[in-house]
Amino acid sequence: MATHISFFFICIPLIIFSSLPLPTLAAKCNKDDQKVLLRIEAEFGNPNPSWTNQMACCDWYGVNCDSDGRVIGLSFFKDTTFNGTIPPSIGDLPYLQNLLLHKLPQLVGGIPTTFTRLRRITMLRITWTGISGPVPDFLSEIKSLNFLDLSFNSLTGSIPASLGTLPNLNVLHLDRNRLTGTIPDSLGNLVPPAYLYLSHNMLSGSIPRSLGSLQTSVLDLSRNRLVGDALFLFGAAKPTDTILISRNLLEFDLTKVAFPVNLTNLDLSHNKIYGKIPAQITALDNLQFFNASYNSLCGEIPQGGRVQNFDQYSFFHNKCLCGAPLEACK
Ligand SMILES: *[C@@H]1O[C@H](CO)[C@@H](O)[C@H](O)[C@H]1NC(C)=O
Ligand SMILES: *[C@@H]1O[C@H](CO)[C@@H](O)[C@H](O)[C@H]1NC(C)=O
Ligand SMILES: *[C@@H]1O[C@H](CO)[C@@H](O)[C@H](O)[C@H]1NC(C)=O
Repeated sequence: MATHISFFFICIPLIIFSSLPLPTLAAKCNKDDQKVLLRIEAEFGNPNPSWTNQMACCDWYGVNCDSDGRVIGLSFFKDTTFNGTIPPSIGDLPYLQNLLLHKLPQLVGGIPTTFTRLRRITMLRITWTGISGPVPDFLSEIKSLNFLDLSFNSLTGSIPASLGTLPNLNVLHLDRNRLTGTIPDSLGNLVPPAYLYLSHNMLSGSIPRSLGSLQTSVLDLSRNRLVGDALFLFGAAKPTDTILISRNLLEFDLTKVAFPVNLTNLDLSHNKIYGKIPAQITALDNLQFFNASYNSLCGEIPQGGRVQNFDQYSFFHNKCLCGAPLEACK
């Protein structure tokens, strides 16, 4: 009964209001922002005819406004007609909080320096585009950034250490580019629990110790050229959900690992990891993905828990692992 009463109290006013025309709300559109949007459209070569003065700019495709008609969100995606560079005028939208440029394969060049004027932006995503050149150092001037995703582009050069000075950065995606050099120590300063994706690049050297002190939720370093130890990434008390370090040149003794208790995904495959798989793995109740294949592991595969949910392909091509799902130990 109580739920029915609240249903009416909440829904009747909604129905009344939504049946009224909303001209004031729709017509509201920050005039300066509207001018900037038209400049952005021109810089893009006017590919989107839906942006016309007949409609309030807050109703334009891909535009999101706050209740005062200021542009807070802008997204362009799945469009092959944008064949120039990123419009520098985007930097003139002072209230912008969220920018998405996604699946624009003809978009080329770099990220414009005007983006440093975006003082309120928290989420910047430029993904699956043709942008190239280095990850710009000046991104570290955009202190409001919480979520930076530059994955699936053609970025080159090394990761600027200055990204680690961004006080609010919690999610960093630089995966699927052509980045080289080492992982900067400063990435250990991300806001925890951090989400760090650096896979599918050409990063080399050893993993910085600072990433061992960082509380991570997701750490994806797979498909790089990383060498040496990764033992310090683990630890039973860590909140980590996902550790992906496959296809590197990592070399350490797995016997000594204490897995994070809530670990869900672990890919160690294609490295030079030696030692045994610790029995503690049978206590990981959330483990859904596990791959230790193509390493130098030895000894009996621990039996129990979720371990036997994985088939031989999670364990094969090691030095001398044995027991189910591989052959019995001799
Ligand atoms: C970019 O797109 C415009 C409009 O579709 C076209 O006229 C121009 O030739 C294209 N330029 C390149 C370099 O593809
Ligand atoms: C593991 O998950 C449980 C349940 O969500 C949570 O209470 C606990 O704090 C987590 N442990 C760690 C080390 O994050
Ligand atoms: C583990 O990795 C190996 C080698 O890349 C692959 O053949 C196998 O299918 C993977 N197993 C799972 C469960 O993904």
